[in-house]
Amino acid sequence: MDVEQLVQADRVHRRVYNDTEIFELEIEKIFSVAWIYIGHVSQVQNPGDFYCTDIALQPVVMTRHSDGEIKVLFNRCGHRGAQVIRPENGSSETYRCCYHGWEYDTDGTLIAVPRPRGYEKSAVQPGDPAYGMTHVPRMAEYRGFVFASLSPTGPTLEEFLGPIATSIDDLVDRAPDGEIEVAGGVARHLYQGNWKLVFENLCDGLHPNCVHQSSIEAANQQDDTTYSDGAGEIGVRQMRQNGAPWEFWEDQVGLWAYRFGHSYLGDYHDDAKLVAARNDSSFDDYYAAMEAAKGNARTQEILGVMRWNTNIYPTISFMSQFRQLRVIRPVSVDQTEVLGFCFRLKGAPEKMFHDTIRFANITNAVASPVLTDDLETYDRIRRGLMTDGNDWIATSRGLGGDAPDEDGGWCAENGLSELHIRNMFDAWSHYMTD
Ligand code: FES
Ligand SMILES: [Fe+2]
Repeated sequence: MDVEQLVQADRVHRRVYNDTEIFELEIEKIFSVAWIYIGHVSQVQNPGDFYCTDIALQPVVMTRHSDGEIKVLFNRCGHRGAQVIRPENGSSETYRCCYHGWEYDTDGTLIAVPRPRGYEKSAVQPGDPAYGMTHVPRMAEYRGFVFASLSPTGPTLEEFLGPIATSIDDLVDRAPDGEIEVAGGVARHLYQGNWKLVFENLCDGLHPNCVHQSSIEAANQQDDTTYSDGAGEIGVRQMRQNGAPWEFWEDQVGLWAYRFGHSYLGDYHDDAKLVAARNDSSFDDYYAAMEAAKGNARTQEILGVMRWNTNIYPTISFMSQFRQLRVIRPVSVDQTEVLGFCFRLKGAPEKMFHDTIRFANITNAVASPVLTDDLETYDRIRRGLMTDGNDWIATSRGLGGDAPDEDGGWCAENGLSELHIRNMFDAWSHYMTD
């Protein structure tokens, strides 16, 4: 069966989740072509800072050069090919390869080799780009979010993001000082399942009420005063929200999808009602800081944006309202690594950042009573799709109800639609057959 036949209007073939050849093709056709999220500028605040990640399974490193510019380099020594920088993050004036000590400047330029006499009759010279750490073909930044692409040609980052950039705006605009920073460590896990499952799950409004029932029940048993003791408020609120009746998800949240596989699920939280009403003075302080910086009308406009998860296909999913970002890294056809980051809003009360951490512990940490349910589901899908019982997986909920959006995307008939899944497979087909 050809790749084109694996994706149909209302279903996809199970091979897209469990065929190693398809996975290898995805690495070549999707991850080596699309704009891949590298990191946030705050992760390399000062010259010499570095942050290691990968693109299409290839180790790369984001650095802050001595001139203040950010670089994205292949993490490979120009001598015999060893990975130069091994810790995930840190800082160093120069980067020195562990094997024979070739030394690189923070922009990847080879600056010194030991015993240079040995190279007198060869081409190896400091400064020669042929022996430096090579720059990735393209890198670009949108409001502090750094992306890179292994493809020298293709849409610009701005074209690639399109209207989904408004979700990044939503996250950054919520900072009274207009800036955000990664803070508080990383929540990391590896799950048994294909990388696409997590994107599908994060905008799936139907599953929480079913899969997350145990934590919903536990949260509902909490006395309402739990909201005000500071320790559990945001977590209890989140777990209770998962139990909102399906009518809420259907009628009040909405689901939007855009070109290149991006999408977001709306939300019906209202901080002003939920938090201020429970006498959380930090919300009043936050509101005052926002008002002082941006004025009342703009503050209301910013806080009036209500989005749940935003997926920027194929590497990140984030919650602008809750200052959370997940990076999704495929490892193999049935193993995926997810890294959860928290952002601090500069100029906001520190209590808000504590809430961010609490929220992360509820939703992104491995001890989360919510995430563990989703991971169990991915593993069950992995196992279920091994059976020969049925080759096809339905993607048809809400099919026929998708309407064009004024931004050039699609709006689902309601928040329980699988529009985002169909939209991702539409992008998938384009990448895979291009
Ligand atoms: S492999 Fe890096 S110095 Fe030899
Ligand atoms: Fe879930």
